[in-house]
Order: sequence, then C-alpha cells, then structure tokens
Amino acid sequence: MNTTKIAIVLFVLLLQTQFGYAQNQIPYLKKSGAKTHLVVDGKPFIVLGGELGNSSFTSTAYMKPHWETLKAMNLNTILAPVYWELIEPQEGQFDFKLFDELLAETRENDMKLVIFWFGSWKNSMSSHVPSWVKQNQDKYPRAIDERGVSQEILTPFSENNLQADLNAFKALMKHIKQVDSEQQTVIMVQPENEIGMLPSARDYHPLANQLFNSQVPTELTDYLQNNKENLVPEFLSIWRKNGYKTEGSWEEVFGPGYATDELFMAWYFAKFTEEITRAGKEIYPLPMYVNAALIRPGKIPGEYPSAGPLPHLMDIWKAGAPSVDMLSPDFYTPDFEYWNDLYVRQNNPLFIPEHRFDNTVGAKALFAIGHYEAIGFSPFAIESGLNMELANAYNLIRQLHPLITEKFGRNKLEGVLLDKDKILSTVVLGDYEFSFKNSYTLGWEAGATNDVWDSGGAIIIQTDTNEFYIAGSGVVVTFKNWKKRNKIVGILKCEEGSFENGKWKVLRHLNGDQTHQGRHVRISHGDYSIQRIQLYEYE
Ligand code: DGJ
Repeated sequence: MNTTKIAIVLFVLLLQTQFGYAQNQIPYLKKSGAKTHLVVDGKPFIVLGGELGNSSFTSTAYMKPHWETLKAMNLNTILAPVYWELIEPQEGQFDFKLFDELLAETRENDMKLVIFWFGSWKNSMSSHVPSWVKQNQDKYPRAIDERGVSQEILTPFSENNLQADLNAFKALMKHIKQVDSEQQTVIMVQPENEIGMLPSARDYHPLANQLFNSQVPTELTDYLQNNKENLVPEFLSIWRKNGYKTEGSWEEVFGPGYATDELFMAWYFAKFTEEITRAGKEIYPLPMYVNAALIRPGKIPGEYPSAGPLPHLMDIWKAGAPSVDMLSPDFYTPDFEYWNDLYVRQNNPLFIPEHRFDNTVGAKALFAIGHYEAIGFSPFAIESGLNMELANAYNLIRQLHPLITEKFGRNKLEGVLLDKDKILSTVVLGDYEFSFKNSYTLGWEAGATNDVWDSGGAIIIQTDTNEFYIAGSGVVVTFKNWKKRNKIVGILKCEEGSFENGKWKVLRHLNGDQTHQGRHVRISHGDYSIQRIQLYEYE
C-alpha cells in the first residue's frame, strides 16, 4: 500500500471512530446520551415496520401477493415469526428451507427482517411447540393453575423445557449467522412472544411450589438493594410495604397476594428468557427485545397475561434478564403516550413491535419517532390491507431519515400526537415554543364535527436558530419566542416540499390562506406534508 492509500484508510477509520459507527459490524444498539439508537449497515436506522399476521410467514405462496402492499406502505422492515414446530418437526432435526426462501424474498423486496421466536410461549400459550414436545408431557411438563388444572403452557420451571427451547433457538441463531452475517437482512430478534401466565397469577406445578416457598434468590435481592434509588414506584411500594426485606420466601419478602405471585412468575420467566437470549447472542449478537401484552383496565394478575415484561415488573425483568436489550409494549388498548412514558423509564429504549392496525398508526409513528426517538414502530397484521395513513407517514419519515438520525440525542427533534382529548401539545426547541393543535380545532375541516377526531401527528426538527421542518398531518402550529417575550413571532418564509436524494426541493411557497395570512403553519387532516419554516420577531 502506498502512503496515500494508507492515509485514506487511516482517515476512514478515524471518521468511523469519530462518529462511533462501524461499517462492518452486525446491527447493534448505540447509546447517545439518554437515548439509544439502532445501527444497521453502519448507519443509524429507524424501523418503519409492520408485523405480519401470525400464520402468514408459513409459505412463500401466501406471502407472494402481499409484498407489493407492504412496499406501497413504505415499510423498510417486516417483523415475522419463526415457528419452532416448523423448524424442528422431529427432535434434533432442523429444517430451515422455508426460512431461507422467505429471507430471500425479503431481500428481493428490499426489506430488513425482525424475527420473533414462536418458541415456548406465544401469547402465554405454548401452541407453537413441536408435536414431540406437546405429546410428551412427562418430559416437557405444563403449568398448572390455582385449581390444579393443567394448561397448554410449558412450565418455565422445568430444565427439560428450557433445554429443548435453547437447543432450537441456538440452532436458529447459528443458521442466521451462517446465511445472513454478510448481508445482514435480519436486524433484531424477539425471543418468545407476549410471555404471561394465565389463567392464574402463578404456576402451581410442584417445581414452582417448591421455589415459591424457598428463599427469594440473592441475585434478585442484591439487585434490588443496589438499585433501590431507581426502582419503579409501583414495584417499590410493594417492597416498602413489607419493610424492604431481603431474606425469606417470596411471601415473606413481598407479602402474600396475587401481586407477589406475579413477581415470582416474572422472575422465573425472566430467568428462562435470559438463558435463551444469552445463548442466542453468544452465537450471533443481534439486538434482542421482549414484548408484553398491556393490561386492560380493571384486571388483576391472573386475569391478564401476568408476569410479562410489563412496566410495573421492569425491575424484575431487568434483574433477571440483563441480556435483553429492550422491554417493548404491544398496543391494542388506548393511552399510547401513558404506556410509552412508563416504558422509557430507566433509559429503556422504546421499540413498538405491535399496534392495532387502525387509522391512528400514521400519527403515532410520527409521534413515537419524533418524541421518543423510538427504535421503530410496527402495526400488527400489516398485510391485511393498504393503510394510507401509515404509507404517508412512513413516506415522510423516509424522506427525513437522514435529518432525523443526524439530530438524534441532540434536543433538536420533537413529536406530537393530538386527538379530541388532547387538542394541544407544546414543544420547546431552541428559543421557540410551538403550540400544536389538532387542525379540527379550527372548525372548518370536514371531520371537525365528528364525535371521534382523527389523530393529528407531527415531527418537528430544528435545523438553525430560527429554521424548522414540520412534517405530519392534522396539525396547526403557532409560535412564541420564550427568550423575547415582548416580541411577536411571525413567519418569514414557509415552503412546502420534499427531500429528493437528501436535497430539499420546494413544491410551493405557502402564504395567504395556507398560513392564515402569516398567522400559523397548517397541515390539514388527509394531507401529509413537510414544510420548512423560518421565523422572525417583530414588535
Ligand atoms: C398480540 C400478539 O403478540 C400477536 O401475535 C397477535 O396474536 C395479536 N396479539 C392479535 O391481536
């Protein structure tokens, strides 16, 4: 190598170290301040995802007609299951033909793949375990409910159950490493799916009963003591009530009741998942997350899938499963912001692997990326139809991808989500305070009289002291300068446009009715657009 070449290589290496991204590494999570981002192909990556229906990834024929719809919705990633029953139909004999075919099609369609392991548990149940597991209950024991009834749920307390799952998951990760470490289409893995105990708060298998009456493991009590200042309040209050005990059985330390039953199960579910995750990462260390079915109002442990990676059990899951990178919420209930706020505590990176595929998903994708700097967003049963709200929102995020990721972790990025209950959201960026309202508040859009309002959502990005991009739908925005409170803020310039190959291209100069003669920025419901604004002050 001549000196010029050596200088170039050194310069590239320096740049990579400087910006912290390594090109040849498999996908990984990178911390920037309190936030964490996903890096794929050496660059920050936002998962614009969609999760397939449960049985859709079982044949190429079934998937064939759906790829075009997925592309039309501007997805860059699909989330899809790998089924234990299909990859290990006979004990110890693995068959990855279907997986390889679907991987090839994912590549042909220019998408990345997040896989979830339908292993021991899928929505609490063990329906996806192979028949040789299902039919050998002596070797692979089941959970038993409070009334003594056996469930189609493998007990997490059996070593045989763990070893069988481990063996299959390790084979899967070995295979992915072998077929994909060059091309890196698979970018993340979810071990198991919506783990949770039903229909009682804990398992009453003799192996479970024995541990329930034994000492709480010191591994857990040490963690609790060492992290006492940071424990989530819902958990801390249970521990406090019983005097912060560190020795004794589960009921002695945490008091008797369903809440303790759930803590106990959460610990052993987390320990089982830790074994799976750690073993998988030892083979091929992709980022790994676990997902939770959120609690429906008014339900107590045992009535909802209990002991999964839920916000009030965060500490137990973090203590028991340190190899898991993220705890993730699945949304089939309202209160999107409320639950996400609970999930981002303790710097847990936010990834939303499932959301009901309704007409709020476009606004929520924008909000999740702008406000939480989420790893990604993904409605469920994505192949079930063409959702233009999602297609349009993902289109905006795709255009803004370089700009958004450049601003990650730097307080230059925000997001809003508005509906009829929350008509106003205030955002401060630099010297300016922005009031975002649902554009129906203006009263003149067709849907303004509806009982339920469409969601408005937007991302706002600061690119200079008084320059901002606003992208979204159903919002009207006014401004103040909090540093110059006696001045009035006006619009110097407002352009509507798009990014083409990273370059801003103006489509229209907006003024007149489009900005209410300089009073506000507006993107009506039904429209999805990007506007670049420059603000100024007058007296
Ligand atoms: C949540 C599960 O994780 C998905 O696999 C799917 O079953 C949906 N619920 C169905 O609503």
